[in-house]
Amino acid sequence: MGVSEAGALPDGRSVRQVVLGAAPGPVLTLLDLGATVQSLEVTCGDGLRRNVVLAHASPAEHLEHTDYLGSTVGRYANRIAAGRFVLDGVEVVVGTNDRGNSLHGGPDGFDRRLWEIAKHSGTEARFTLVSPDGDQGFPGTLRADARFAVDGSDVRLDLTATTDAPTVVNLTSHAYFNLDGPGSGTIDDHELTVEADRYTPVDGTGIPLGAHAPVAGTPLDFRTPARLGTAIRSGHEQVAQARGVDHNYVLRGSGLRSVAVLTSRRTGTKLELLTDRPGLQVYTGNFLDGSSPSAAGGRHRQGDGIALEPQLFPDTPNRPEFGSAVLRPGETYRASLVWRFG
Ligand code: GLA
Repeated sequence: MGVSEAGALPDGRSVRQVVLGAAPGPVLTLLDLGATVQSLEVTCGDGLRRNVVLAHASPAEHLEHTDYLGSTVGRYANRIAAGRFVLDGVEVVVGTNDRGNSLHGGPDGFDRRLWEIAKHSGTEARFTLVSPDGDQGFPGTLRADARFAVDGSDVRLDLTATTDAPTVVNLTSHAYFNLDGPGSGTIDDHELTVEADRYTPVDGTGIPLGAHAPVAGTPLDFRTPARLGTAIRSGHEQVAQARGVDHNYVLRGSGLRSVAVLTSRRTGTKLELLTDRPGLQVYTGNFLDGSSPSAAGGRHRQGDGIALEPQLFPDTPNRPEFGSAVLRPGETYRASLVWRFG
């Protein structure tokens, strides 16, 4: 299985894809455009093979929309308030692209770049990207690396980065799952469990209001398996304002551990997520509005998929109480996730 053409960008550059894995295990198709998960075919609980991720119909559509379907996002996943923060006493101004804030790296994030396919085999692919000093306003030349591997019923992603000047980094995968397959309807009947007692309440632009808050007594409580549609359709003001779940959870524990389980009874399919990150953004496709055609045919509509994005807490560069997002020369940023199917 090698690298093949997957289409072209409007400027004529070609987009390439690489396929990893083999049935009955997961078969993963990746694009160099955005180091994107273009399809992920698994054996569902009913024994049928299905693709379980949403994807754009073409590379041109990928650039046309800002839903980050399947992409590796960076340099800074989630939001930086007003696109400003102070790093080593100096104010840094980065590109804004979401209600006055910087989202997923700014207007020209890593999801829109052609990554280099540095290495690939039948079970592993490594993508690299060099983000120049000043890219979207971020200081330092960042060398990012996304290594995808299929092993048994696991798909693993290891993200690493180095810099030549102090900067901030937060990389993740923005894959949207629908365990019954794209086009099968919404994820309302999927059940989700998240290993988190607290979440981050946000303002109307997705910026943290302040301290973390307990999930107990809110529809955002996924400590035991809960149907997503119930949360999405609740009148809770955090949910109403985000048009669904678009919230960051404070994950229990540390190190690579199991943090979430997504299941669909309809096809008997289960996805377990492991990560070493402290936070998990749960986003129920609230802004999918039918404008983007799906690779599976039809269009992406609100709630057609759920993104489970392991990462730091939102706006960490402005919130010392949330930890640090700073990467310095000589250090290596590392973030890992595993999608385990069973
Ligand atoms: C993240 C954000 C959402 C939304 C999606 C992409 O999950 O938190 O608000 O921007 O990305 O549309």
